[in-house]
Amino acid sequence: MSIELKGITKKFGALVANDSIDLKVARGEIHAILGENGAGKSTLMNIVYGLVNADSGKVLVEDKEVIINEPADALKYGIGMVHQHFMLIPVFTVAENIALGREQSKGGFLSLDEIKKKIKLLAEEFKFDIDPDSLIENLPVGVQQRVEIIKALIYDAKVLILDEPTAVLTPQETDELLSIMRTLKSKGTSIIFITHKLREVQDVADKITIIRLGKVVNTVASNTSQEELASMMVGRQVDLAPNKTEVKPGKIILDINNLSVSNSLGRKIIDSLSLQVRAGEILAIAGVQGNGQSELARAIVNLEDHVSGSIKLDQKEILGITVQDSLRAGIAYIPESRELDGLISSFSIVENLILDVHDISPAAKKGRLNPDYINDNSAKLVNEFDIRAQSIFDPASSLSGGNKQKVVLARELSREVKLVVASQPTRGLDVGSIEFVYEKLLAERSANRAILLLSSELDEVLELADRIAVIYKGEIVGEVGSDVSREKLGLMMAGIK
Ligand SMILES: Nc1ncnc2c1ncn2[C@@H]1O[C@H](COP(=O)(O)OP(=O)(O)OP(=O)(O)O)[C@@H](O)[C@H]1O
Ligand SMILES: [Mg+2]
Repeated sequence: MSIELKGITKKFGALVANDSIDLKVARGEIHAILGENGAGKSTLMNIVYGLVNADSGKVLVEDKEVIINEPADALKYGIGMVHQHFMLIPVFTVAENIALGREQSKGGFLSLDEIKKKIKLLAEEFKFDIDPDSLIENLPVGVQQRVEIIKALIYDAKVLILDEPTAVLTPQETDELLSIMRTLKSKGTSIIFITHKLREVQDVADKITIIRLGKVVNTVASNTSQEELASMMVGRQVDLAPNKTEVKPGKIILDINNLSVSNSLGRKIIDSLSLQVRAGEILAIAGVQGNGQSELARAIVNLEDHVSGSIKLDQKEILGITVQDSLRAGIAYIPESRELDGLISSFSIVENLILDVHDISPAAKKGRLNPDYINDNSAKLVNEFDIRAQSIFDPASSLSGGNKQKVVLARELSREVKLVVASQPTRGLDVGSIEFVYEKLLAERSANRAILLLSSELDEVLELADRIAVIYKGEIVGEVGSDVSREKLGLMMAGIK
């Protein structure tokens, strides 16, 4: 089904998030949308899906104007959307989540059987491996993503909007998703695909529209070079191969010995793991998601419950102390999920920037907040980290995905620390911001901090790491230098020695 947007404009107060945007997507076309963090991509898609109402402009489906005031309207016209942040309810099953909002009942009971049948059919058609009765919270993110897609497809979406679906996926899961997109395309489904990964765009898109500051910059073919795309997006050249200066590693800052972490059912997620990170070096943990890296990062700041072994920070045992004490002992922690562990959405940007220091000097003075310092410091960080916000007093929830990530980075990388634990630090960032974060992490390294980088982006690992430890099923299965080939690293990550 074809879809066209004409003159879509949306303001939030004084900010023009979408400025007279035109976009045309043909039947069976994969149309990628590229743009900086805060360019207005999600806003535009939320308008098409009826979650946000435009101030002006038109949406045409098959050349006929349609009025979309709410998601139910969008679904009626065959428009489905997978959102930037998951909208699934963890304690419900796959089938229950898919039924949600569209409940059909028989004699007063929810008729889930119909839904389950449809899920099985779709799962077969697209070669998904999904059990309709699994609880969402027990599923890896890649599978949750598929549930979101099935949720959109089950009601016959002819236009599918995917807002950064690959941000949380492993390279393998991403490849699978791209191939699902091609299958959908061959059946005539139109797809609007938002991503920050230029390689994916070139791989799968028919056309690419670049948005900057709420305006369409250009629509180009998919053979446009990555350099050109990047510079159209951010308006300057981008270099993702930062200069790494020679730093001589100093003393051991993080010393982990025989660390084991179990889940609430007693199953070992991390098994007798040992590793050391020295001052002035970046140790990257490479691994396919779900092999214990999340738990490792969380254990270091004492966010995990069932932990044994030893974690020393600068020779002092920190295992078992509080989260706050861990941070104050000198750890910067960038969690893999900004929504879950990084921010309090309803708090302002200012408040989020002082979450872990709000009660100590200089943020607090004589038991009270010190607004002069706090506000000045926020303004400084917003500027330095290029956080695109209207006001530092706006809630974090009003920020675009990438700008939320920048708030977390700004807070954590502006404290005096010994160790930086960075879990997926560039998730959801545009290429310009990624370049900036790389520089920042390297500056931390030059300042003799120890850095533990957990990343599922191979390029990132190879670019930044001094040493790479591969984690597989909760154990470190090998260590290599950053001159290792992608192929060898990939094999190690898959558990092949
Ligand atoms: N509900 C809201 N209230 C106020 N401002 C908002 C709201 N929603 C979005 N904005 C602002 O509109 C602008 C565009 O945001 P949007 O989420 O569309 O960006 P995006 O292109 O999707 O960015 P990202 O790549 O980071 O996801 C941002 O400056 C954002 O802060
Ligand atoms: Mg967005």
